[in-house]
Amino acid sequence: MPTVTEILETMEYGPAPEASGEVTAWLKARGQFGHFIDGAFTKPGKGFPTANPANGEVLAKVSQGTQKDVDAAVKAARAALPGWSKLAGHERAKWLYAIARHIQKRERFLAVLEVMDNGKPIREARDIDVPLVARHFYHHAGWAEMLEDEFPGAKPVGVCGQIIPWNFPLLMLAWKIAPALAAGNTVVLKPAEYTPLTALAFAEICAEIGLPKGVVNIVTGDGETGAALVASEVDKIAFTGSTEVGRAIRKATAGTGKKLTLELGGKSPFIVFADADIDAAVEGVVDAIWFNQGQVCCAGSRILVQENVAQTFQTRLKARLSKLRVGDPLDKSTDVGAIVDPVQLTRIRELVAKGEAEGAVLHQAEAQLPAKGCFFAPGFMTNVQPANIVSEVEIFGPVATLTTFRTPAEAVELANNSRYGLAASIWSENVNLTLDIAAKVKAGVVWVNSTNIFDAGAGFGGYRESGFGREGGREGMREYLSTPVVKTKPEADAPDLSAAPVPGAPSNGPAPIDRTAKMYIGGAQKRPDSGYSYTVMAKGHEIGLAGLGNRKDIRNAVEAAHKASGWGKATGHNRAQVLYYIAENLSAREAEFAARLKAAGVAKPGDEVATSIRRAFYYAAQADKFDGAVHSTKSAHVTLAMPEPFGVMGVACPDDAPLLGFLSLILPAIAMGNRVVAVPSASMPLAATDLYQVFDTSDLPGGVVNIVTGAKDELAKTLAGHDDVAAIWYCGGPDGAKMTEAESAGNLKVTWTFANRDWHGSDGQGRDFLLRATQVKNIWVPYGE
Ligand code: NAI
Repeated sequence: MPTVTEILETMEYGPAPEASGEVTAWLKARGQFGHFIDGAFTKPGKGFPTANPANGEVLAKVSQGTQKDVDAAVKAARAALPGWSKLAGHERAKWLYAIARHIQKRERFLAVLEVMDNGKPIREARDIDVPLVARHFYHHAGWAEMLEDEFPGAKPVGVCGQIIPWNFPLLMLAWKIAPALAAGNTVVLKPAEYTPLTALAFAEICAEIGLPKGVVNIVTGDGETGAALVASEVDKIAFTGSTEVGRAIRKATAGTGKKLTLELGGKSPFIVFADADIDAAVEGVVDAIWFNQGQVCCAGSRILVQENVAQTFQTRLKARLSKLRVGDPLDKSTDVGAIVDPVQLTRIRELVAKGEAEGAVLHQAEAQLPAKGCFFAPGFMTNVQPANIVSEVEIFGPVATLTTFRTPAEAVELANNSRYGLAASIWSENVNLTLDIAAKVKAGVVWVNSTNIFDAGAGFGGYRESGFGREGGREGMREYLSTPVVKTKPEADAPDLSAAPVPGAPSNGPAPIDRTAKMYIGGAQKRPDSGYSYTVMAKGHEIGLAGLGNRKDIRNAVEAAHKASGWGKATGHNRAQVLYYIAENLSAREAEFAARLKAAGVAKPGDEVATSIRRAFYYAAQADKFDGAVHSTKSAHVTLAMPEPFGVMGVACPDDAPLLGFLSLILPAIAMGNRVVAVPSASMPLAATDLYQVFDTSDLPGGVVNIVTGAKDELAKTLAGHDDVAAIWYCGGPDGAKMTEAESAGNLKVTWTFANRDWHGSDGQGRDFLLRATQVKNIWVPYGE
């Protein structure tokens, strides 16, 4: 034991362990756990132990949920749904407040339990995780209170299956359960196999406060239990975890009608410009990648430093690294605790070793690691090429890569050189530069001169293969609500196009063919790659020919759309001007369009054209009015929630209302700045191809709208599988919807599949289309003190 004088001399920390007696007694009293179903714990079944990763000691045994357990939980949630969803928002709010209060009462207990099960430092569990859990329930109690006013007409989705990871066990539970309950849903949640204990303690809280039975159900188990939950009769799956499992869930839920949100991996850039406050940025790295042992989906794992300050930055980073204390997670002065499980530790070691074998140099803290337990000394890697495995793959451990850049443009290019798009941190004292870069990085969350800050009031979630959907705040609430569509019509059977392919020239039908429509790609009319057209029939007559598009046409159209990126940068006002112009030009040709629709056998052709014109005016009006929000989040920050276009969208249009259905989907997409590759009605494509001249005379830049005619499902399949398409809307039958969702799993594009609806009525237009045409980027900006 050093003397006080010696301590004052060296300023060494002494051990300051947090007491764990209460938790140990709780674990001893329980020993083994069943599931929490219908308001009570089941008898423990076959299962597995959960251990403390800091010392390997077994804490308890939990049950491996079977399909039967999952079904029982879903049944209980289903039975509880009518009562819970019909409660007045105020009544549900009271339950959420009660949960929040009880969490606060047990703050210390929950923090210690989390530390023992997960290995994170007590300082983090105590100061970050658990307070945020309580904050989440308070915040969402507020949403329950205001639900009817803030989301008029919206209904809960139903029974929600929720699958969470092990890095923030209780916090992820709160992120999932709080909004679901606030919106009137009931839930079945599966915690991660490494860290089930705080979820079970949470179940005890639910029982203790007398939450109506079946509203919250917790089923423990591994990936098999998760897969059983995905396959069960739930209305929604909300998942946080690896991109690999997220992709499997996307495929498994395709065509089931289950609503899906995915919060997946990341490889987030941490960009330091030469004019940054270097010391603050170095401290930022501590919070970005060494926080929670780097087991953070939005960890700043790719440090990009401007070349002229790179040496200074690296020297100071190394100095800071040497001060990190690695060790007993229950010790209050520990900075870096244990990795969650030996499996993850091996994964980190292997990835880092592969990175070194590919030429990267590891700089590691020289901390004395405990002899027992899952510890990995934090560090960073230099000499890392973009193709090195550690540049591309999520290490999910306390190791970042450090590379340099010269110009802001190069920083953006490097930042976006990833299949992920979860978060980004930008460090510079120049406000213009930070906000310029914030707009250009492809990420759902951007922190300016800060990192890894979270709050219940802001949406969190990614772009690209980091998943879709948002958790937190107003954006997160929407994921647990649905707005019923009043009237739907079944889609007509797809016409048999292959039956009448005509090479290039018109066939001899009973009625004269006056039109041979081409494709519309990059603002020019193009012949189909196949060289074939098909006959368009109306009332038994041949009324024209349309190109029989194929994969090559789709690929050309996507390329043209990709090139038209200027559209996304145009102001809302400028886009509105073009849309007004489209409305005007359509108006000027109203009678002609109506006559053509009439000849094509469309019912109420005059109404269809008139409504189409109004729709163009409506989305022109929205182009500069549908905007974001400023969330009040943490002190000294505001969070700008910016709706951004996806980029290139694929749109497979309805057969019904061939002009109005087409425009009802294209217009909101382009009003928000997207470029579109559209597949119009196969049976009546001429309503869309007639629009070429309208677009040409309305100053719509080439490539913003591209039209490929042909067999809808075949073309939609190519669109859904295309890596340069970020989102796809498919209007049609269940088979096509299933195909679209399954094919979209490749790059995890955002999908919206829906049945035909009454395009003339209120369901054919509105903010829902604009919400679906955008993804929200939350930018955290320092503000005030
Ligand atoms: P994982 O994705 O397998 O686990 C997350 C959750 O999904 C757990 O509850 C697990 O039981 C469940 N699960 C696993 N397979 C499933 C399936 N087929 N269907 C439904 N649920 C399933 O992640 P894992 O294996 O624990 O970690 C592997 C890597 O994933 C990590 O090294 C890290 O790179 C990444 N990861 C990312 C997370 C994030 O927050 N984005 C969280 C956890 C892991």
